[in-house]
Amino acid sequence: MKGVVLAGGLGSRLKPLTKVTNKHLLPVHNQPMIYYPIQTLINAGIDDIMIVTGGNSAGDFLKLLGNGKDFGLKHVNYTYQEGEGGIADALSLVEHFADDKPICVVLGDNIIEGNIQKAAEDYRKQGAGAKILLKKVPDPQRFGVPELDGDRVLQIEEKPENPKSDFAVIGIYFYDSTVFDIIKTLKPSGRGELEITDVNNHYINQGAMTWNELDGWWTDAGTFESLLHATNLVAETGANNLEIKSANS
Ligand code: DAU
Repeated sequence: MKGVVLAGGLGSRLKPLTKVTNKHLLPVHNQPMIYYPIQTLINAGIDDIMIVTGGNSAGDFLKLLGNGKDFGLKHVNYTYQEGEGGIADALSLVEHFADDKPICVVLGDNIIEGNIQKAAEDYRKQGAGAKILLKKVPDPQRFGVPELDGDRVLQIEEKPENPKSDFAVIGIYFYDSTVFDIIKTLKPSGRGELEITDVNNHYINQGAMTWNELDGWWTDAGTFESLLHATNLVAETGANNLEIKSANS
């Protein structure tokens, strides 16, 4: 399975912090934000990784990450998203890289305490379709929210006013290669973006979606509140076994 970190977009909710640099290069405690999603993939045994950058300072990703030596990688792939067309638009850029293989996609501002090894293993066995990860949250209105019927997910609503559960769909997704055909059918949402929730609802309608509940804490870091929350969580407990390698290299 190949891995994708989506670090495009303009980070508008963090202005002026993102006026001259990219959101995913900002610090979360003692590491740049992008280190956490990269480590999430590596901990799941995924070492063939594409980073989708965009917006400001895209060249700084290369300076920071190079070929991934600090993570024990031999090579890192990069591509650039023009504008802020949405998560699914950013994902559409990796079709050539995916090369008909399954992919694990991690949003560049999503940080987890533990790992996704069990979900990755389950998805490898599943072999086709898609898998999402869910986490109970106090503020589901901020996220994609699933409507569940036992083990079945019936639909996902993006940032609903009246959430149908207290789960958030976190920004870690497993897809087979049909994801790129699905993205080609999407229309921009009210906020002018190709929504990953629309992609997930396609898989649900085809009966091809499974889900796992994530162990350990999860947070995004794309608002001032969540960036501070992420920093505090990492400072208190650490995140996905990220060792401080870059300080010594
Ligand atoms: O954090 C999980 C949530 O992420 C999910 O629950 C939602 O269903 C999903 O839509 C997304 O919601 P946000 O509105 O919080 O996503 P945001 O626009 O903050 O983008 C999250 C990351 O996706 C961002 O850090 C980089 C990447 N991205 C986003 C956009 C809009 C891109 O690479 N390109 C883009 O154009």
